[in-house]
Amino acid sequence: MIHSLSDVQSKNIGEHTNIWQFCVVLPGAVIGDYCNICSHCFIENKVTVGNHVTVKCGVQLWDGIVIEDDVFIGPNVTFCNDKHPKSGNKDYKMEGVTVKKGASIGAGSVILPGVTIGEGAMIAAGSVVVKDVPAGSLYLKKID
Ligand SMILES: CC(C)(COP(=O)(O)OP(=O)(O)OC[C@H]1O[C@@H](n2cnc3c(N)ncnc32)[C@H](O)[C@@H]1OP(=O)(O)O)[C@@H](O)C(=O)NCCC(=O)NCCS
Repeated sequence: MIHSLSDVQSKNIGEHTNIWQFCVVLPGAVIGDYCNICSHCFIENKVTVGNHVTVKCGVQLWDGIVIEDDVFIGPNVTFCNDKHPKSGNKDYKMEGVTVKKGASIGAGSVILPGVTIGEGAMIAAGSVVVKDVPAGSLYLKKID
């Protein structure tokens, strides 16, 4: 189901995938089967999303992002693909992010460019992830 209030320009949307209100999906994006893309998401061109992926509200998936099967992305998670951003930057070097199968990212986390989140890893809500996260691990920085 592609909601009539979304702007989905890609033809590569899998079966049984739902894309809800006010999402924008650019033509080059590839999204698998049985995904749930909740409202107010933006998905750029060079993006691959696997099967059974949940993307909660308010998430942007920029060029260079690969989301494998069974991943959960919490609301307002922010991905980055430019380590030294500058308006009109001619030296822009895209560094993608990979989220491996079955990983979950808690609400409001920020994922820095070039990071790989390992298979089945859990990222605590509100994390800032600056380095690769090992498979199966819990990424949690306690706040005192
Ligand atoms: C990381 C998480 C899985 C830990 O859950 P848990 O294993 O049940 O852990 P607890 O709630 O018992 O907390 C353990 C400790 O970590 C702290 N903690 C828990 N979550 C934290 C977080 N996101 N950031 C910082 N510290 C956190 C707790 O305060 C507690 O500290 P203490 O030992 O000093 O008392 C969970 O807190 C979390 O962030 N889940 C993601 C929720 C989310 O984003 N859902 C999205 C859809 S709504």
